[in-house]
Amino acid sequence: MLQETLIKATRAGAAVLEKFFSNKDLIISNKEGINNLVTEADHAAEKTIIETIREAFPDHYLLTEESGELPSGSNYKWIIDPIDGTVNFAHGIPICCVSIGLEKDGKMIMGAVYNPLFNEFYLAERGKGATLNGKPIHVSSMDEVIKSCLVTGFPYTYLDLPNGPLQCFERFIRKGVPVRRLGSAAIDLCWVAAGRFDGFYEHKLQAWDSAAGFLMVEEAGGKVTDFTGKHYSPYQPHLLATNGKIHDEMLNWINDRL
Ligand code: IPD
Ligand code: CA
Ligand code: CA
Repeated sequence: MLQETLIKATRAGAAVLEKFFSNKDLIISNKEGINNLVTEADHAAEKTIIETIREAFPDHYLLTEESGELPSGSNYKWIIDPIDGTVNFAHGIPICCVSIGLEKDGKMIMGAVYNPLFNEFYLAERGKGATLNGKPIHVSSMDEVIKSCLVTGFPYTYLDLPNGPLQCFERFIRKGVPVRRLGSAAIDLCWVAAGRFDGFYEHKLQAWDSAAGFLMVEEAGGKVTDFTGKHYSPYQPHLLATNGKIHDEMLNWINDRL
């Protein structure tokens, strides 16, 4: 029932995303930061996702990007990003998705990420692996950062920190390591899980960006930590997800210990 509802809610949200995609009259507004957008599609997708979950589990806790926290005493918490990759979505770039993670007693137990525009449905269940459109997926076997293909993301407002996103990015680029920037953290994580990227890092993520995707990477055989190497929690900002083999070396690159 939990998985059925997860799939149903993800598909329902994605149907809204698809309906609004390429709509030139889309109503777009700004959150804080000039390019931190929210569209009517984000709100509509979130509404249908919440309704679908509530129909099956009226008392579960919900944490959503657009409606905030909808708390309850339940030990199940659904973490919802109705559209991850909103800037892409608003510009007609088909790299965007619905992402929903489900926690039980503070532990992520299931996650789904669906990009209906590529028809790629990723699903993970703790201890049972990760799949893309029903077929098992695995991380890559690359064991050297210098030969890796990486992906990263940047926050909407510039993070002026020592060793911030630009300094890190520069370090990889100066050594000729390809680092892509797709604009959807959930898809970045799924593409690590599917072995397309060897690693993904980002300096400032929210729980809804990574909840489903980090489980996808773990269940596909990869490793996810913060920048100190501690087991990842979606309630802090730093994320490093890799195939496991390049993880320690990536930590050295990110922390400027080369
Ligand atoms: C954003 C995307 C992007 C990442 C940002 C996120 P949104 O989420 O995941 O890739 O770089 O940090 O905020 O706003 O499109 O849901
Ligand atoms: Ca997001
Ligand atoms: Ca979003």
